This record gives sequence, structure tokens and C-alpha cells, in this order.
Amino acid sequence: MPEKISPARGVEGVVTPPGDKSISHRYAMLGAIAEGATILENYATGADCQSTLACLSALGVKIERRDGKIVIEGGELREPPRLDAGNSGSTIRMLSGILAAQPFTSHIGGDESLSRRPMLRIIAPLSQMGAWIEARDGKFPPLTIHGRALQGIDYTLPVASAQVKSCVLFAGLFAKGDTIVREPVRTRDHTEIALREFGADIESVRGVITLRAGARLRGRSQIIPGDLSSAAFFLVAALLLPESDLLIHAVGLNPTRSALLDFLASMGASIKVVEVRQTGGELIGDLRVRSSKISGGVIEGAMTAALIDEIPVLAILGAASEHGLIVRDAAELRVKETDRIAALEKNLGRMGVRLEAAPDGFTVPGKQRFHAAEIDPEGDHRIAMAFSIAALAAEAPSIIHGSEAAAVSFPEFFSTLRHISR
Ligand code: S3P
Repeated sequence: MPEKISPARGVEGVVTPPGDKSISHRYAMLGAIAEGATILENYATGADCQSTLACLSALGVKIERRDGKIVIEGGELREPPRLDAGNSGSTIRMLSGILAAQPFTSHIGGDESLSRRPMLRIIAPLSQMGAWIEARDGKFPPLTIHGRALQGIDYTLPVASAQVKSCVLFAGLFAKGDTIVREPVRTRDHTEIALREFGADIESVRGVITLRAGARLRGRSQIIPGDLSSAAFFLVAALLLPESDLLIHAVGLNPTRSALLDFLASMGASIKVVEVRQTGGELIGDLRVRSSKISGGVIEGAMTAALIDEIPVLAILGAASEHGLIVRDAAELRVKETDRIAALEKNLGRMGVRLEAAPDGFTVPGKQRFHAAEIDPEGDHRIAMAFSIAALAAEAPSIIHGSEAAAVSFPEFFSTLRHISR
């Protein structure tokens, strides 16, 4: 579906982003295997998190929507028909950790984009734990997971991936012996927090996470914070457009996610954290953001992993900044929902904006102007939303083709954008 985006002078008002996608997946999966009911308020509305719920239902989990909340009755899983993870890498990778330990065989796959995404990163550690997993060409979805009794593992992550870490820890819940995951580069820690909240014995010290065997998880109530990665599009819109003043309400500020705010501040962004509170181990706050002069910056090393989902929209900000943006150590961008480096290069080119691509990153020179264009996000939600923000800064209306991709994480994105654009 093509979406026309007209230029705007600013964004103004109050925005409440949808529930955090990462946290929603984890709480749904843990709720499904915990004793008793788990009640989730502000569960993510995007298609990815609905894919997780659909897979859990197919596994026999009772899930109800009550007063806008999701109520999950935990218990034993049963052998499912084919599981469809849709576009969701988190669903297939994290759920595989649970499926690998069940006393049955599961088949799990997804759409065309998911079918191209690397799965060896989970097959390797799960196999070391004793699982038997078959994959297309040995490494791509669909997966056939033959459940087995698993052993704990001491595993050093070869890629900085919270999905892989979570997969191994979820498998560890069912394993004989403790499970240790070592992270050379820190990634989001929602799984560690969630496991602790559900009652597991888990400890995390300087990148070494130890999960003690024999955890008994108990269902719980949780308010899901708003998704900072979804809010990032509006943060950048506000910084980029000259007449902006925006309040972003109830957004997650977990320190393993909020590097975005530090990075923006280091480039001169005017963002105030108005009020911070805590819900089940996760921080939530309100942000006030105003138009700012952005200097430019470099994203590399551990920072790349911390900002990985925000890089597409930061590329847009970088092009309009004083000195531009350099991104390094970001080969992972090439194996997201699409090759995001290639998608940025192609679509920025359509807008008359230069990006020099490298195998594991890119450089976007600063002081560039966006020209109206027709954008092809290649089915990638974050590319569709990032270029919608670029289009606000162009001199004439642009068209975002396949705009429905945004619904993967943020179905309300375009209506919210229309509401706040001036
Ligand atoms: C996620 C981890 C990241 C991120 C994805 C969500 C998670 O992926 O890009 O959007 O919820 O754990 P990787 O684990 O592949 O880095």
C-alpha cells in the first residue's frame, strides 16, 4: 500500500509508543511455560508479537484478551501443527530454545524474509546442548526441531545477539546442569530481567550470565514499557524538523537500550528525561524532545550492538547533520529483515542523498538535502518508517511503497505521524 508523506515544519504534541517488542516476546514465552497466569498490560501491537502469541496458541497455550490485556495460562506445551513465525526473527530464534527441550517434534518457519535469515547461530549452541535440529541448507528456516533432554552449556556468543543469548537461556531452563552464557559485547538484557522476575535463579556479572538449573517459573503481572526503538523515529523527526516540541510518554529506558539517548545527546540533541519510574525491573520514563542542531558522529564497537535497530533512522539524521554519520562493525545490518545497508543506499540515492556503503557499515556525509522520491522499503518495517521521517524533510510529497511493512512493529505509525505533523 503506497503512503504519501508530505513535508512538515515540525512534529508537536504527545506520543505514546506501542509496548516494547523485545519485552513482549519474552514475557509471552515465559508466561507460556510458567505456573499459573501471566497478565500483560500494553503488550506490543505489532505483527511480530502477534506471531509469538499465534505460535504459543498452536502449542496449546490458552491466551485471552481481557480489558486490553493479554492473559496467558502457563503449562505444558503440546505438539503443534506447523508454526508460523511470520517476519519475526525473535519468535523463531527464542522459541526454538524452548522447543528444543520439548518431548515432541516441531516445525517452524516464516515469510520470505525470515526464510533468508541465519539460524546456525542458534542451531550450534542448541546442538551442543543435545538438541537435534534440521534446517533448509543446514542453516535457514524452516526448522524441524526434534525435542531432546538437554544439558547445560558454557557458551561464548560468537555474534552480539540478544536473540541467541535468550534462546540459549530459554533452553537452559529445561536443561540438566547450569547454563552459562558469556557476552563479549553487551546486548539488551530483558531476558535476564524477565527470568529473575519469573523466579529463576540467574546472575549476571560483567558479561557472564549464569542460570541455575531447575528453575520454577511463576506467572506474573507486568506492564510492558513503550518501545524506545519505535519512539526513535519520532525522536529523529523532532530533532530534524525546525519547529518541533514533542513529549514521548511511558517509554522503556532500560540502560541496555537507552544508548540511543546518550548518542543523540552527544550530537547536540535536546532531549529531557522528564520522569523515571520502574515496572518489574524495567525503567520507564517520559521524554521531551525539541528541534536541535545535530553535529554528527561515529557508531562503532559495542555502540553498534546497542544501537542496531536505530541505525536506519540515525542514517537519516546523519545526512542532515553538520558532519555526517559513520557506522562501523555493523555487518549484522546485512542480515536483518532485509540488507539494511543496501536498502539505505538505494533509497537515499532515490532522494538524492549520498551514502558510501562498506561491507560492515557506511558513511553518510552531512549537510545533505532530501528530495521527494518514491521509496521501496523491501518489506522492512524500520526502512519504511525511517524513510517516512526523511520524507517529512523533503521539499515535496514522497511515496512510501509497501508502507504496510510498518505494522510488523508499529501498526499505529502512520496515523500517529499524521497526528503530530505540522
Ligand atoms: C532483539 C535483538 C536484536 C534486534 C531485534 C530484537 C531481541 O537482534 O535487532 O530487533 O529482542 O532480542 P539480534 O539478537 O539478532 O541482534
